[in-house]
Amino acid sequence: MGGEEIKYVQEAFESNYIAPLGPQVDAFEREFIAKVKIPYGVALSSGTAAMHLALHGMGVGAGDEVLASSLTFIGSITPVVFQGATPVFIDSDRASWNMDPELLAEEIESCKKKGKLPKAVVPTDIYGQCADMDRILDVCSVYNIPVISDSAEALGATYRGRSAGTGAKAVVYSFNGNKIITTSGGGMLVSEDEKMISYARFLSQQARDAAPHYEHTQIGYNYRMSNIVAAVGRGQLKVIDDRVEARRRIFAYYQKTLQDVPGIEFMPEAPYGRSNRWLTVILITPEEFGADREEVRLALEKHNIESRPVWKPMHMQPVFKGCRMRGGGVSEDLFKRGLCLPSGTAMSYEDVDRVIAVIRNVHKRCSDDSFTIQPKPIPDAELTSCHNVSAS
Ligand SMILES: Cc1ncc(COP(=O)(O)O)c(C=O)c1O
Repeated sequence: MGGEEIKYVQEAFESNYIAPLGPQVDAFEREFIAKVKIPYGVALSSGTAAMHLALHGMGVGAGDEVLASSLTFIGSITPVVFQGATPVFIDSDRASWNMDPELLAEEIESCKKKGKLPKAVVPTDIYGQCADMDRILDVCSVYNIPVISDSAEALGATYRGRSAGTGAKAVVYSFNGNKIITTSGGGMLVSEDEKMISYARFLSQQARDAAPHYEHTQIGYNYRMSNIVAAVGRGQLKVIDDRVEARRRIFAYYQKTLQDVPGIEFMPEAPYGRSNRWLTVILITPEEFGADREEVRLALEKHNIESRPVWKPMHMQPVFKGCRMRGGGVSEDLFKRGLCLPSGTAMSYEDVDRVIAVIRNVHKRCSDDSFTIQPKPIPDAELTSCHNVSAS
């Protein structure tokens, strides 16, 4: 928390608006759209809910296909299935780790030949780095296919100077507990299309028609953000720029301090944008480093330091077995070699040094048995606060 959240929560308590909706929600929506410079937005209970309403609003339904990044978190994809549609996965490019626009173009052409165009395209801005939105929009505009940007991880990142997701028909953000700012849980759907946001707002409140009694002509959802949660969000918005700077500093420190270690590469920053560096992610090449990413992860775990493999691509998930995939080698390689390091903004440089010492130790142990760097011992009192040193 940044400190000001409690002031807004207090305001919410004093106004007695504890139910969903209320002045904090209105203010959070206003302040959020001003920050991302996209004109309309609706605050919701999660990023997954935001994706669901975006797909619904675009008329995605049974029998449709939606093209989506394979390298993503499942919350990006499950709403496609909620709508009765089928996801088709697109591999990443090496420059950004995001949806490869060339492969997207190939898949769309192949769909066209088969006589069935996708109903929507959902690129994810992975680990806080924007997908190449202009190229994706160019490809999709040929057949007028709407793009929904999954920018859940990318608040505070920019693409050619614009906020993550700008230009897409709809943009999804998440305030889940692991994100760069959090409301404990929550999401936002933003768009330049006022009608689409007001329809999403309507659906998010159980699709209540305008009537003094409860009248329903459509099926809706209970997806609204509560007034208390929005109060937390208002405080968090004040620290987003600081959080991005802190995450970038942590990334730069890891990168500088580990530069002499062979077999470690850092997630690249694509030239068109500025990542929020939500997580510091490395690739480990075992032939050069001396151990694979799993050995490093387990060594960190022994020191009570949580790290995680890169997202397992959706086309490798048992639940999506049988779904079509365009390409696959890049995201499979990123999964095999990728490790997300502790990146929380509460980390001190000493915390980062502890992580680095373990990584160096694994490398030295595996390349020269006579050399061992001891990671700094962890005082017992600190072990209880290790949630700060977490990878996701
Ligand atoms: C890429 C991506 N998409 C979607 C989501 C879903 O957001 P939420 O957890 O708020 O439902 C997340 C994160 O949780 C995510 O990282």
